[in-house]
Amino acid sequence: MFLTDEEKRILDGEKGVGCQKAMELIYALALTFDAEKLIPIKRAHCALSGQEGDTYWCELLVNNGAKCTVPVTTNPYWDTCYLTKFFDVTKDELELAERTGDVYRRIGAKLTYHCAPGLGTNVPFFGEHIAFSESSATPYVNSVLGARSNRESSVSALAAGVIGKTPLYGYHLDENRYGEFLIDIDAEMEDHYDWGILGHCVGKIAGSRNAVLRFKDPVNPGPEDFLYFGAEAATSGAVAMYHMVGVTPEARTIEQAFGNRPIPKSEAVLTNKDLKDREELLTPNGGEINLVMLGCPHYTYNQLLDVERLLGGRKVNQNVAFWILAEFQAVELAERSHLRQRLELLGVRMVGDTCIDEPCWKSFEGRLGVTDSPKCAYYRERRGQSFAVRRLSECVEAAISGRVE
Ligand code: F3S
Repeated sequence: MFLTDEEKRILDGEKGVGCQKAMELIYALALTFDAEKLIPIKRAHCALSGQEGDTYWCELLVNNGAKCTVPVTTNPYWDTCYLTKFFDVTKDELELAERTGDVYRRIGAKLTYHCAPGLGTNVPFFGEHIAFSESSATPYVNSVLGARSNRESSVSALAAGVIGKTPLYGYHLDENRYGEFLIDIDAEMEDHYDWGILGHCVGKIAGSRNAVLRFKDPVNPGPEDFLYFGAEAATSGAVAMYHMVGVTPEARTIEQAFGNRPIPKSEAVLTNKDLKDREELLTPNGGEINLVMLGCPHYTYNQLLDVERLLGGRKVNQNVAFWILAEFQAVELAERSHLRQRLELLGVRMVGDTCIDEPCWKSFEGRLGVTDSPKCAYYRERRGQSFAVRRLSECVEAAISGRVE
Protein backbone atom coordinates (compact mmCIF):
# COMPACT_ATOMS: atom_id res chain seq x y z
CA MET A 1 0.00 0.00 0.00
CA PHE A 2 1.62 3.22 -1.17
CA LEU A 3 1.16 6.45 0.78
CA THR A 4 2.61 9.76 -0.39
CA ASP A 5 4.74 11.77 2.04
CA GLU A 6 1.85 14.15 2.61
CA GLU A 7 -0.54 11.27 3.36
CA LYS A 8 1.97 9.85 5.85
CA ARG A 9 2.24 13.22 7.56
CA ILE A 10 -1.57 13.42 7.91
CA LEU A 11 -1.53 9.90 9.36
CA ASP A 12 1.13 11.03 11.83
CA GLY A 13 -1.12 13.88 13.00
CA GLU A 14 0.63 16.82 11.35
CA LYS A 15 -2.72 18.35 10.27
CA GLY A 16 -4.43 17.76 13.60
CA VAL A 17 -6.27 14.93 15.30
CA GLY A 18 -9.48 15.32 13.23
CA CYS A 19 -7.67 14.82 9.91
CA GLN A 20 -5.59 12.05 11.49
CA LYS A 21 -8.75 10.14 12.50
CA ALA A 22 -10.20 10.55 9.00
CA MET A 23 -6.95 9.33 7.45
CA GLU A 24 -6.75 6.37 9.86
CA LEU A 25 -10.15 5.25 8.64
CA ILE A 26 -9.30 5.69 4.96
CA TYR A 27 -5.98 3.89 5.46
CA ALA A 28 -7.66 1.00 7.32
CA LEU A 29 -10.16 0.61 4.47
CA ALA A 30 -7.34 0.67 1.94
CA LEU A 31 -5.46 -2.08 3.82
CA THR A 32 -8.61 -4.17 4.27
CA PHE A 33 -9.42 -4.12 0.57
CA ASP A 34 -5.81 -4.35 -0.69
CA ALA A 35 -5.93 -0.95 -2.36
CA GLU A 36 -2.71 -0.06 -4.08
CA LYS A 37 -2.98 3.66 -3.24
CA LEU A 38 -5.37 6.52 -2.55
CA ILE A 39 -6.89 8.52 -5.40
CA PRO A 40 -8.15 12.12 -5.34
CA ILE A 41 -11.86 12.88 -5.41
CA LYS A 42 -13.64 16.16 -6.11
CA ARG A 43 -16.94 15.38 -4.38
CA ALA A 44 -18.59 13.08 -1.84
CA HIS A 45 -22.07 12.38 -0.53
CA CYS A 46 -22.58 11.55 3.12
CA ALA A 47 -25.59 9.53 4.30
CA LEU A 48 -26.08 11.64 7.38
CA SER A 49 -28.91 10.01 9.28
CA GLY A 50 -29.47 12.08 12.40
CA GLN A 51 -28.59 8.99 14.43
CA GLU A 52 -26.15 9.02 17.30
CA GLY A 53 -23.25 7.11 15.66
CA ASP A 54 -23.03 9.29 12.56
CA THR A 55 -23.32 12.50 14.53
CA TYR A 56 -20.65 11.31 16.99
CA TRP A 57 -18.19 10.65 14.13
CA CYS A 58 -18.73 14.06 12.57
CA GLU A 59 -18.29 15.71 15.99
CA LEU A 60 -15.10 13.74 16.61
CA LEU A 61 -13.61 15.05 13.36
CA VAL A 62 -14.73 18.67 13.54
CA ASN A 63 -14.05 19.12 17.26
CA ASN A 64 -10.48 18.10 16.48
CA GLY A 65 -10.01 20.59 13.68
CA ALA A 66 -11.12 18.70 10.54
CA LYS A 67 -13.00 20.39 7.68
CA CYS A 68 -14.30 19.10 4.36
CA THR A 69 -11.75 19.75 1.62
CA VAL A 70 -14.12 18.85 -1.24
CA PRO A 71 -17.88 19.50 -1.45
CA VAL A 72 -19.73 16.89 0.62
CA THR A 73 -23.50 16.86 0.14
CA THR A 74 -25.70 15.29 2.80
CA ASN A 75 -28.67 12.98 3.17
CA PRO A 76 -31.79 14.18 4.99
CA TYR A 77 -32.57 13.89 8.66
CA TRP A 78 -35.73 15.94 9.40
CA ASP A 79 -36.95 19.51 9.15
CA THR A 80 -37.13 20.41 12.83
CA CYS A 81 -38.63 23.88 12.28
CA TYR A 82 -41.51 22.77 10.08
CA LEU A 83 -42.35 19.33 11.47
CA THR A 84 -42.45 20.34 15.14
CA LYS A 85 -45.50 22.43 14.18
CA PHE A 86 -47.31 19.15 13.52
CA PHE A 87 -45.65 16.47 15.64
CA ASP A 88 -44.37 15.97 19.17
CA VAL A 89 -40.84 14.71 19.70
CA THR A 90 -38.90 14.26 22.90
CA LYS A 91 -36.31 16.75 24.08
CA ASP A 92 -33.57 14.17 23.36
CA GLU A 93 -34.81 13.57 19.81
CA LEU A 94 -34.89 17.28 19.07
CA GLU A 95 -31.48 17.84 20.62
CA LEU A 96 -29.91 15.08 18.52
CA ALA A 97 -31.42 16.56 15.34
CA GLU A 98 -30.13 20.02 16.22
CA ARG A 99 -26.68 18.66 17.08
CA THR A 100 -26.62 16.89 13.71
CA GLY A 101 -27.43 20.00 11.67
CA ASP A 102 -24.97 22.03 13.69
CA VAL A 103 -22.02 19.65 13.36
CA TYR A 104 -22.39 19.09 9.61
CA ARG A 105 -22.60 22.86 9.18
CA ARG A 106 -19.39 23.30 11.21
CA ILE A 107 -17.45 20.69 9.24
CA GLY A 108 -18.29 22.56 6.04
CA ALA A 109 -20.65 20.05 4.40
CA LYS A 110 -23.00 21.24 1.67
CA LEU A 111 -26.33 20.89 3.48
CA THR A 112 -28.52 19.57 0.67
CA TYR A 113 -30.36 17.04 2.88
CA HIS A 114 -31.33 15.09 -0.22
CA CYS A 115 -31.08 11.32 -0.75
CA ALA A 116 -30.96 11.28 -4.56
CA PRO A 117 -27.95 13.54 -5.15
CA GLY A 118 -27.22 12.15 -8.62
CA LEU A 119 -30.51 13.64 -9.85
CA GLY A 120 -29.59 17.21 -9.14
CA THR A 121 -27.76 18.23 -6.00
CA ASN A 122 -24.44 16.45 -6.65
CA VAL A 123 -24.05 15.08 -10.18
CA PRO A 124 -20.71 13.45 -11.03
CA PHE A 125 -19.58 12.96 -14.61
CA PHE A 126 -18.81 9.75 -16.48
CA GLY A 127 -15.68 8.04 -15.17
CA GLU A 128 -15.30 10.41 -12.20
CA HIS A 129 -13.98 8.85 -8.99
CA ILE A 130 -16.19 9.79 -6.04
CA ALA A 131 -17.13 8.59 -2.54
CA PHE A 132 -20.92 8.33 -2.18
CA SER A 133 -22.87 6.75 0.64
CA GLU A 134 -26.67 6.20 0.64
CA SER A 135 -27.74 2.85 -0.75
CA SER A 136 -30.07 4.31 -3.37
CA ALA A 137 -27.56 6.92 -4.54
CA THR A 138 -24.64 4.58 -5.23
CA PRO A 139 -26.28 2.35 -7.86
CA TYR A 140 -27.55 5.47 -9.63
CA VAL A 141 -24.21 7.23 -9.91
CA ASN A 142 -22.33 4.04 -10.85
CA SER A 143 -24.78 2.52 -13.27
CA VAL A 144 -26.68 5.44 -14.80
CA LEU A 145 -24.02 8.17 -14.77
CA GLY A 146 -20.95 5.93 -15.09
CA ALA A 147 -19.19 7.58 -12.14
CA ARG A 148 -17.11 5.36 -9.84
CA SER A 149 -17.98 4.90 -6.19
CA ASN A 150 -17.88 2.11 -3.67
CA ARG A 151 -20.86 1.57 -1.36
CA GLU A 152 -19.50 3.96 1.22
CA SER A 153 -20.84 4.34 4.73
CA SER A 154 -21.60 7.82 6.06
CA VAL A 155 -18.43 7.46 8.12
CA SER A 156 -16.10 6.60 5.22
CA ALA A 157 -17.72 9.13 2.85
CA LEU A 158 -17.20 11.92 5.36
CA ALA A 159 -13.60 10.84 5.97
CA ALA A 160 -13.02 10.86 2.20
CA GLY A 161 -14.55 14.36 2.00
CA VAL A 162 -12.15 15.57 4.71
CA ILE A 163 -9.05 14.00 3.15
CA GLY A 164 -10.16 14.59 -0.46
CA LYS A 165 -9.13 11.04 -1.32
CA THR A 166 -10.51 7.51 -1.35
CA PRO A 167 -8.78 4.10 -1.64
CA LEU A 168 -8.43 2.67 -5.15
CA TYR A 169 -10.38 -0.61 -5.00
CA GLY A 170 -13.79 -2.10 -5.83
CA TYR A 171 -15.94 -0.10 -8.24
CA HIS A 172 -13.09 2.32 -8.98
CA LEU A 173 -11.48 -0.45 -11.06
CA ASP A 174 -12.73 -1.59 -14.50
CA GLU A 175 -12.62 -5.30 -13.66
CA ASN A 176 -15.08 -4.91 -10.77
CA ARG A 177 -17.64 -3.00 -12.81
CA TYR A 178 -18.42 -5.64 -15.43
CA GLY A 179 -21.58 -7.71 -15.29
CA GLU A 180 -21.43 -10.94 -13.30
CA PHE A 181 -24.71 -12.56 -14.31
CA LEU A 182 -27.53 -12.14 -16.79
CA ILE A 183 -31.27 -11.71 -16.24
CA ASP A 184 -33.84 -11.50 -19.04
CA ILE A 185 -36.78 -9.15 -18.58
CA ASP A 186 -40.03 -9.85 -20.40
CA ALA A 187 -42.28 -7.36 -18.61
CA GLU A 188 -43.98 -4.08 -19.41
CA MET A 189 -42.66 -1.19 -17.37
CA GLU A 190 -45.27 1.53 -16.88
CA ASP A 191 -43.84 3.88 -14.30
CA HIS A 192 -41.35 4.27 -11.46
CA TYR A 193 -43.36 1.84 -9.33
CA ASP A 194 -42.81 -1.03 -11.79
CA TRP A 195 -39.13 -0.20 -11.94
CA GLY A 196 -39.00 -0.30 -8.14
CA ILE A 197 -40.66 -3.72 -8.00
CA LEU A 198 -38.32 -4.97 -10.73
CA GLY A 199 -35.38 -3.66 -8.69
CA HIS A 200 -36.68 -5.53 -5.67
CA CYS A 201 -36.80 -8.79 -7.69
CA VAL A 202 -33.33 -8.22 -9.15
CA GLY A 203 -31.78 -7.35 -5.77
CA LYS A 204 -33.03 -10.64 -4.30
CA ILE A 205 -31.29 -12.60 -7.06
CA ALA A 206 -28.18 -10.42 -7.24
CA GLY A 207 -27.11 -10.07 -3.61
CA SER A 208 -24.02 -7.91 -4.14
CA ARG A 209 -23.29 -9.10 -7.70
CA ASN A 210 -23.47 -6.85 -10.77
CA ALA A 211 -26.59 -7.76 -12.74
CA VAL A 212 -26.90 -7.38 -16.51
CA LEU A 213 -30.53 -6.89 -17.56
CA ARG A 214 -31.52 -7.79 -21.11
CA PHE A 215 -35.01 -6.53 -22.05
CA LYS A 216 -37.18 -8.34 -24.58
CA ASP A 217 -38.80 -5.07 -25.68
CA PRO A 218 -37.01 -1.70 -25.84
CA VAL A 219 -37.29 0.36 -22.64
CA ASN A 220 -36.78 4.05 -22.04
CA PRO A 221 -36.46 4.63 -18.28
CA GLY A 222 -36.39 8.17 -16.89
CA PRO A 223 -34.43 9.46 -13.88
CA GLU A 224 -37.10 8.47 -11.33
CA ASP A 225 -37.34 4.98 -12.86
CA PHE A 226 -33.60 4.40 -12.50
CA LEU A 227 -33.67 5.82 -9.01
CA TYR A 228 -36.47 3.51 -7.83
CA PHE A 229 -34.93 0.51 -9.54
CA GLY A 230 -31.57 1.06 -7.80
CA ALA A 231 -33.11 1.95 -4.43
CA GLU A 232 -35.06 -1.30 -4.30
CA ALA A 233 -32.21 -3.44 -5.68
CA ALA A 234 -30.07 -2.03 -2.88
CA THR A 235 -32.81 -2.74 -0.31
CA SER A 236 -33.60 -6.36 -1.16
CA GLY A 237 -29.96 -6.98 -2.15
CA ALA A 238 -26.73 -5.03 -1.83
CA VAL A 239 -26.50 -3.83 -5.42
CA ALA A 240 -24.09 -0.99 -6.17
CA MET A 241 -23.75 -1.50 -9.93
CA TYR A 242 -25.95 -2.91 -12.68
CA HIS A 243 -26.19 -2.76 -16.43
CA MET A 244 -29.19 -2.49 -18.74
CA VAL A 245 -28.17 -3.58 -22.21
CA GLY A 246 -28.51 -0.78 -24.75
CA VAL A 247 -29.52 1.66 -22.00
CA THR A 248 -26.85 2.32 -19.37
CA PRO A 249 -23.55 3.85 -20.48
CA GLU A 250 -21.23 0.91 -19.79
CA ALA A 251 -23.55 -1.54 -21.54
CA ARG A 252 -24.07 -0.22 -25.06
CA THR A 253 -23.84 -3.91 -26.04
CA ILE A 254 -24.11 -7.09 -24.01
CA GLU A 255 -20.44 -7.81 -24.80
CA GLN A 256 -19.41 -4.46 -23.31
CA ALA A 257 -21.53 -5.13 -20.20
CA PHE A 258 -19.56 -8.35 -19.56
CA GLY A 259 -16.20 -6.77 -20.40
CA ASN A 260 -15.86 -8.93 -23.54
CA ARG A 261 -15.78 -12.04 -21.40
CA PRO A 262 -17.97 -15.08 -22.19
CA ILE A 263 -21.67 -14.23 -21.80
CA PRO A 264 -23.21 -16.51 -19.16
CA LYS A 265 -26.55 -18.27 -19.52
CA SER A 266 -29.46 -16.24 -18.23
CA GLU A 267 -30.16 -16.96 -14.54
CA ALA A 268 -33.82 -15.95 -14.72
CA VAL A 269 -36.55 -14.55 -16.94
CA LEU A 270 -38.65 -12.00 -15.05
CA THR A 271 -42.16 -11.42 -16.35
CA ASN A 272 -45.13 -9.28 -15.29
CA LYS A 273 -46.32 -12.26 -13.26
CA ASP A 274 -43.06 -12.25 -11.27
CA LEU A 275 -43.50 -8.54 -10.60
CA LYS A 276 -47.10 -9.11 -9.51
CA ASP A 277 -46.04 -11.99 -7.22
CA ARG A 278 -43.35 -9.80 -5.66
CA GLU A 279 -45.83 -6.98 -5.16
CA GLU A 280 -48.21 -9.36 -3.39
CA LEU A 281 -45.41 -10.59 -1.13
CA LEU A 282 -44.62 -6.99 -0.22
CA THR A 283 -48.23 -5.93 0.33
CA PRO A 284 -50.08 -8.39 2.51
CA ASN A 285 -52.00 -5.66 4.31
CA GLY A 286 -55.36 -4.09 3.66
CA GLY A 287 -57.82 -2.07 5.72
CA GLU A 288 -58.19 1.44 7.07
CA ILE A 289 -55.14 3.68 6.81
CA ASN A 290 -53.96 6.69 8.77
CA LEU A 291 -51.09 7.81 6.53
CA VAL A 292 -49.98 8.06 2.91
CA MET A 293 -46.22 8.50 2.80
CA LEU A 294 -44.43 9.17 -0.49
CA GLY A 295 -40.88 10.19 -1.26
CA CYS A 296 -38.48 7.41 -0.30
CA PRO A 297 -36.22 8.20 -2.15
CA HIS A 298 -37.17 11.87 -2.28
CA TYR A 299 -39.83 12.86 -4.79
CA THR A 300 -38.91 15.10 -7.70
CA TYR A 301 -40.98 18.04 -8.92
CA ASN A 302 -42.38 15.87 -11.74
CA GLN A 303 -43.65 13.36 -9.20
CA LEU A 304 -45.35 16.15 -7.24
CA LEU A 305 -47.18 17.07 -10.44
CA ASP A 306 -48.22 13.42 -10.84
CA VAL A 307 -49.86 13.52 -7.40
CA GLU A 308 -51.88 16.60 -8.33
CA ARG A 309 -52.96 15.06 -11.64
CA LEU A 310 -54.09 11.84 -9.96
CA LEU A 311 -56.01 13.68 -7.25
CA GLY A 312 -57.89 15.59 -9.92
CA GLY A 313 -59.20 18.13 -7.41
CA ARG A 314 -60.49 15.49 -4.93
CA LYS A 315 -59.77 15.93 -1.23
CA VAL A 316 -57.87 13.58 1.05
CA ASN A 317 -60.04 11.71 3.58
CA GLN A 318 -60.25 13.53 6.92
CA ASN A 319 -58.89 10.47 8.78
CA VAL A 320 -55.75 10.29 6.62
CA ALA A 321 -52.55 12.32 6.75
CA PHE A 322 -50.84 12.63 3.34
CA TRP A 323 -47.14 13.49 3.46
CA ILE A 324 -44.69 13.78 0.58
CA LEU A 325 -40.97 13.96 1.26
CA ALA A 326 -39.23 15.79 -1.55
CA GLU A 327 -35.95 17.32 -2.59
CA PHE A 328 -35.74 20.89 -1.25
CA GLN A 329 -35.53 22.35 -4.77
CA ALA A 330 -38.73 20.51 -5.73
CA VAL A 331 -40.46 21.98 -2.66
CA GLU A 332 -39.21 25.43 -3.62
CA LEU A 333 -40.45 25.00 -7.21
CA ALA A 334 -43.81 23.80 -5.88
CA GLU A 335 -43.99 26.90 -3.71
CA ARG A 336 -43.19 29.22 -6.65
CA SER A 337 -45.72 27.60 -8.96
CA HIS A 338 -48.36 27.44 -6.18
CA LEU A 339 -48.46 23.66 -6.57
CA ARG A 340 -47.70 23.38 -2.87
CA GLN A 341 -50.61 25.62 -1.96
CA ARG A 342 -52.98 23.79 -4.33
CA LEU A 343 -52.02 20.42 -2.84
CA GLU A 344 -52.38 21.73 0.71
CA LEU A 345 -55.96 22.78 -0.05
CA LEU A 346 -56.62 19.14 -0.98
CA GLY A 347 -55.01 17.85 2.24
CA VAL A 348 -51.51 16.98 0.98
CA ARG A 349 -48.44 18.32 2.77
CA MET A 350 -44.88 18.23 1.53
CA VAL A 351 -41.62 18.68 3.36
CA GLY A 352 -38.00 18.95 2.24
CA ASP A 353 -34.84 17.80 4.01
CA THR A 354 -36.61 14.87 5.69
CA CYS A 355 -36.28 11.09 5.75
CA ILE A 356 -39.03 8.56 6.50
CA ASP A 357 -36.81 6.88 9.10
CA GLU A 358 -36.94 9.59 11.76
CA PRO A 359 -38.68 9.97 15.14
CA CYS A 360 -40.95 12.81 13.93
CA TRP A 361 -43.25 10.23 12.29
CA LYS A 362 -43.85 8.15 15.39
CA SER A 363 -47.41 9.38 16.06
CA PHE A 364 -48.58 7.27 13.09
CA GLU A 365 -47.07 4.04 14.42
CA GLY A 366 -49.28 1.14 15.39
CA ARG A 367 -51.67 1.63 12.46
CA LEU A 368 -51.55 0.97 8.74
CA GLY A 369 -50.02 3.31 6.18
CA VAL A 370 -49.70 3.14 2.41
CA THR A 371 -46.67 3.98 0.29
CA ASP A 372 -45.37 3.45 -3.25
CA SER A 373 -41.93 2.50 -1.90
CA PRO A 374 -40.96 -0.96 -0.61
CA LYS A 375 -37.91 0.74 0.93
CA CYS A 376 -40.18 3.03 2.96
CA ALA A 377 -42.26 0.04 4.07
CA TYR A 378 -39.13 -1.86 5.10
CA TYR A 379 -37.71 0.94 7.27
CA ARG A 380 -41.02 2.05 8.78
CA GLU A 381 -41.91 -1.54 9.70
CA ARG A 382 -38.82 -1.62 11.92
CA ARG A 383 -40.15 1.43 13.75
CA GLY A 384 -43.59 -0.07 14.33
CA GLN A 385 -45.77 0.97 11.43
CA SER A 386 -46.75 -1.51 8.75
CA PHE A 387 -47.36 -0.28 5.23
CA ALA A 388 -49.25 -1.56 2.25
CA VAL A 389 -47.13 -1.00 -0.86
CA ARG A 390 -49.13 0.19 -3.87
CA ARG A 391 -48.52 2.07 -7.10
CA LEU A 392 -49.01 5.85 -6.86
CA SER A 393 -52.49 5.88 -8.43
CA GLU A 394 -53.68 3.36 -5.80
CA CYS A 395 -52.03 5.34 -2.98
CA VAL A 396 -53.99 8.39 -4.11
CA GLU A 397 -57.28 6.45 -4.21
CA ALA A 398 -56.54 5.08 -0.72
CA ALA A 399 -55.94 8.63 0.50
CA ILE A 400 -59.41 9.62 -0.70
CA SER A 401 -61.30 6.58 0.53
CA GLY A 402 -59.31 6.15 3.74
CA ARG A 403 -58.64 2.49 3.14
CA VAL A 404 -56.59 0.16 1.02
CA GLU A 405 -57.95 -3.12 -0.33
FE1 F3S B 1 -34.21 8.82 1.48
FE2 F3S B 1 -34.61 8.12 3.96
FE3 F3S B 1 -35.74 6.75 2.04
S1 F3S B 1 -32.71 8.81 3.10
S2 F3S B 1 -34.23 6.86 0.42
S3 F3S B 1 -36.16 8.90 2.55
S4 F3S B 1 -34.85 5.88 3.91
